[in-house]
Amino acid sequence: MSWINGKVAVVTGAGSGIGRALALELVRRGATIAISDVDVAGLEATAEQARAIGGTVRTDTIDVSQREVVEHYADSVAAELGRVNLVINNAGIAYFGNVTEMPYKDLERVMDVDFWGVVNGTKAFLPHLEASGDGHVVNISSVFGLFGVPSQSAYNAAKFAVRGFTEALAMELKMAQKPVSVTCVHPGGIKTNIVRNATAVDERIDQKGDISAHFDKVLARTTPAKAANVILDGVEKKKVRVLIGADAKIIDAFVRVAGPRYQGVVRWASGKSGI
Ligand SMILES: NC(=O)c1ccc[n+]([C@@H]2O[C@H](COP(=O)([O-])OP(=O)(O)OC[C@H]3O[C@@H](n4cnc5c(N)ncnc54)[C@H](O)[C@@H]3O)[C@@H](O)[C@H]2O)c1
Repeated sequence: MSWINGKVAVVTGAGSGIGRALALELVRRGATIAISDVDVAGLEATAEQARAIGGTVRTDTIDVSQREVVEHYADSVAAELGRVNLVINNAGIAYFGNVTEMPYKDLERVMDVDFWGVVNGTKAFLPHLEASGDGHVVNISSVFGLFGVPSQSAYNAAKFAVRGFTEALAMELKMAQKPVSVTCVHPGGIKTNIVRNATAVDERIDQKGDISAHFDKVLARTTPAKAANVILDGVEKKKVRVLIGADAKIIDAFVRVAGPRYQGVVRWASGKSGI
């Protein structure tokens, strides 16, 4: 029997990609779901698909960077659905721009959504997860939380921060013997809209089409459905770290073996692909 069966699960950024696939797989594994996104049409499409396979679904338009909104949302979900067992902080955005070119406001927006959005969701739901007596937090980092990539300093900063925050939280909750498990997820390339929806500094805006085509054709090797299954299998096994895809596993091993020398290889690969 799946741990997820009969549980109440929350997914942010569920209007597309990995979030949508997670919502659908949670329903298949027997959960009641509360899903949210800033993309109302995308969210409704996910809800429709989830209901078509028998899911009980609550939908809300939530910007994860709005702390007070997220706090109110957490209390409201717990009150309406009786408890919250699983929170997946998945919402995220991508951005292209070098440090010297990038305006502060762009870096701050990436941190607001990709880092603070995860912190807001974690802190708002933690009391409810603990009160459930059997809770789990999943925070979505990236392989970009394992190694640096040129043009990705903002996204790298947010995803490394998610990893540090989540790993510290995992240890704190274990030491305090709280009934809440924690998983940090590092996907490799997943076939979603993340790069198509990415923003870029002016100097790179012309390159976006090429980057997006390269991502779809070469880099995104795993389907969202596969990613959702790997994440939820990791939750069932209470794994503290989940890597998704052969690319993520290779990068993780390579960075640990090469140490800082990985930068030479990444510089070479980035120059070759023109990204
Ligand atoms: N696709 C990949 O290759 C990949 C790799 C590593 C990590 N990730 C991470 O996986 C997560 C999901 O991304 P995806 O690939 O499914 O992308 P996606 O663009 O298909 O979906 C992301 C969803 O998040 C929503 N969103 C964006 N900003 C939001 C906000 N402020 N509040 C609420 N929702 C917001 C979007 O509307 C969208 O529906 C992200 O955190 C991303 O960084 C993706």
